Amino acid sequence: MSAVALVVAAGRGERLGSPGPKAFVMCGGRPMLEWSIDALKAVPEIGHIVVALPAGVQAPAGTSGVVGGQERSHSVRAALHHTLAGDPVLVHDAARPLVTPEIIRACLAGLDAEADAAIASARVTDTVKEQADAAGPPTVARTLDRDRLWAIQTPQVFRREVLERALAQPHDVLAAATDDASIVEAMGGTVRLVESPRDNLKITTPDDLRLAESLLKAR
Ligand code: CTP
Ligand code: MG
Repeated sequence: MSAVALVVAAGRGERLGSPGPKAFVMCGGRPMLEWSIDALKAVPEIGHIVVALPAGVQAPAGTSGVVGGQERSHSVRAALHHTLAGDPVLVHDAARPLVTPEIIRACLAGLDAEADAAIASARVTDTVKEQADAAGPPTVARTLDRDRLWAIQTPQVFRREVLERALAQPHDVLAAATDDASIVEAMGGTVRLVESPRDNLKITTPDDLRLAESLLKAR
């Protein structure tokens, strides 16, 4: 059975401060979403692409569109429910236009027989400290062991049955999740880390957009 890709593109992009939805902001000469769609279309293992969109927006050519939900996970769920088949299921944020066919294929290959999910991630190069709970100015509680820290990206690949169970969690669990793998982890699932370039960055702020444009131009 071939894989199915779900692309979430229904966010408003509040932190970017753009007039329209972030996925349709111009990035390197085209709407941001189109870069991800092209990368997914270049992967033969992927048989179908479903895109969660803001209401009233047309799906890109060669994909199926579905109206997204209130929070990110609700958009993933809406897209998943639109597909009747396809296993594994790959989830990708339209806010990561620098994804490549190589990253996508590495994530698909990373889902070994014992794994429930395989997710793109980059090793952390900064020293990361955790803040204490105490009131007052932010104060360090501890320094984390950098050798074991990874910054998580999309794509994230799931066995279909595992993602279906994760997205059947209550509304508040889904609303609090910043990625889908964290729901699988909380259910005791095995999630593999697939090393991916740091370049596969997420566009959140105008600075990120400028950086992504210069990286796309340099390709
Ligand atoms: N997303 C979605 N549906 C939502 C919220 C987010 O499909 N209800 C998608 C976004 O389109 C994006 C990805 O999830 O591709 C990651 O979300 P984020 O970077 O937070 O994007 P936005 O929610 O659009 O941005 P902001 O939080 O600044 O409003
Ligand atoms: Mg958001």
